[in-house]
Amino acid sequence: MFINLTEEQKEGKFEELIEYANKIKNESLKNACLKILNDYKKQLFTRAAGHDAIEHIKYERTHQCFDGGLLDHTLNVTKHAYNIALIYKDKVDMDLVIFGALLHDIGKTKIFDEWNENGKIKSNLNYSYLLVDHVYLGEQIVEKYLDKEEISEKLKYQALHIIATHMDTMDKHMTEAYIVSYADSIDADVENIISYPRNAFNPIIKKYMYESENTEK
Ligand SMILES: [Fe+2]
Ligand SMILES: [Fe+2]
Repeated sequence: MFINLTEEQKEGKFEELIEYANKIKNESLKNACLKILNDYKKQLFTRAAGHDAIEHIKYERTHQCFDGGLLDHTLNVTKHAYNIALIYKDKVDMDLVIFGALLHDIGKTKIFDEWNENGKIKSNLNYSYLLVDHVYLGEQIVEKYLDKEEISEKLKYQALHIIATHMDTMDKHMTEAYIVSYADSIDADVENIISYPRNAFNPIIKKYMYESENTEK
């Protein structure tokens, strides 16, 4: 069940992203974050967060495969990460959590093509997706913007570490990276089971868990 976002919904979610970005206290992180969100607004509005066919093979799961899906996922992850971080607020850097959550999947703007008029991704069988993927591409985008700000090497690489590790492609060394990565998994897994017909691939699960005539057995 894929429900594309309306333009009004997209604008509302984007405004929420900007509100979170404005909570960042460090001026350099906030400036870079706001610039990236605004410069990539069009891509965030027209990209899915996953591909319904390919990601099942690549990651064994997919999520938010609809127009505006990347925007929807980014906002959900930011909300989850922010709320988890609040529990530990004396021990975590809220700026880094917000920054990392808002930008963790910005590289997906480069691997998925624009949603087309038929409600299908035109094609994402491109080399950027298959050979390097969104983590590397996201780090490149974010590093380019951070390099234009007055920022210490330590803070720059702490911010990049959250993006670099969110898919478990390397070890995490920061609490903030764990929070964003788990927030990412919460939204991806919950959204997957709500809207993606995982059950369609397994006839037994489909029969006993999802078909109404079997629910009372
Ligand atoms: Fe990701
Ligand atoms: Fe994600």
